[in-house]
Amino acid sequence: KTEPLSPLKKMYQDATEFYQHILLTTKTGENALKYAHDRELDEDLLEHFKIGYAPDNDGILLTFLKQKGYEDDLLRRSGLFVESKEGKLYDRFRDRLMFPLSDEVGRTIAFSGRRISNNSEIAKYMNSPETEIFTKSKLLFHLSEAKKAARSEGHLILYEGYMDVIAAYKAGIKSGVASMGTSLTDEQVYILKRITPNVIINYDGDPPGIHAAERACGMFQKANGFNLGIVVLPENLDPDEYVKKYGAQKYQGQVKAALTPIDFLLNRLALKFNLHNDREKLSFIDEAVQLIAPLNDPVAEDLYLGKIAKQTSVSIESLKVSVLRARRKLN
Ligand code: CTP
Ligand code: MN
Ligand code: MN
Ligand code: MN
Ligand code: MN
Repeated sequence: KTEPLSPLKKMYQDATEFYQHILLTTKTGENALKYAHDRELDEDLLEHFKIGYAPDNDGILLTFLKQKGYEDDLLRRSGLFVESKEGKLYDRFRDRLMFPLSDEVGRTIAFSGRRISNNSEIAKYMNSPETEIFTKSKLLFHLSEAKKAARSEGHLILYEGYMDVIAAYKAGIKSGVASMGTSLTDEQVYILKRITPNVIINYDGDPPGIHAAERACGMFQKANGFNLGIVVLPENLDPDEYVKKYGAQKYQGQVKAALTPIDFLLNRLALKFNLHNDREKLSFIDEAVQLIAPLNDPVAEDLYLGKIAKQTSVSIESLKVSVLRARRKLN
């Protein structure tokens, strides 16, 4: 814990504090602070997540870090600046609310900046490029804090976005991490595996989020040994929007009602077929049976087959025969 910071991490720590200072105490930060308050980020949350503001100025961070004595070479390698053709450095992040991304012990190693204007021509989020200390595919937002909370909460919750992790935190769930979008990586799955087998996926309730949850299910299942839960929020809401609309208690209820992966995948599958048509019904059963076949838990099998039998008016006995046949093909 007392291991000294590498110069680059020290620079990121200084940049984090600089951006926080601008957001919380300066006139330049007023507009961004208003944006933060509009999004219900109170001072405690801003402090806990070390959120700051990069002003609309192309050299303020550069000047600050040079004055702190950082060498040109390190500034160039940091990813905090963009370089002109002539080799001049400019601040990369401008007029953005800054979310520090940190390593497993909570030290900033990159930033993601959210635009605070509603000009949709500008990218909503902008991230640091990869550097010697930041590999995007291995980063989970809020991991250093979430893994401590995972011990008391008994699970980790996987979100898409920073604001979702923060909204969950506000709602009393401190074990949230974000994959930073919908493209979960195998590295991230592996990192989670070292912390807990109990993972709840709570991606956005919109079609991209639901598809990403299906894909994530497959990745966790392939990694083996996870005990997964899936939360699907209504009305296309993301967790941040859900908490804002329905409150913390309702949100906690959604988490408690997380589906098993098979229930989630069966629900998804049922939506793809018209079960009033026999041909489609048979295709549905065929695919549903593929989901059940790998299970080696007779109780779970009965439970799911009972549901499929109800949906299709096919007997559990016939479904069982199909499952056995599919299982034989697996081995
Ligand atoms: N993301 C990104 N770049 C974008 C859009 C999204 O890196 N242009 C990542 C961010 O990590 C973001 C996550 O994908 O948090 C989820 O995207 P989205 O649902 O679109 O954003 P929200 O997290 O809902 O952001 P906000 O509530 O601020 O609109
Ligand atoms: Mn804290
Ligand atoms: Mn989304
Ligand atoms: Mn979202
Ligand atoms: Mn959102």
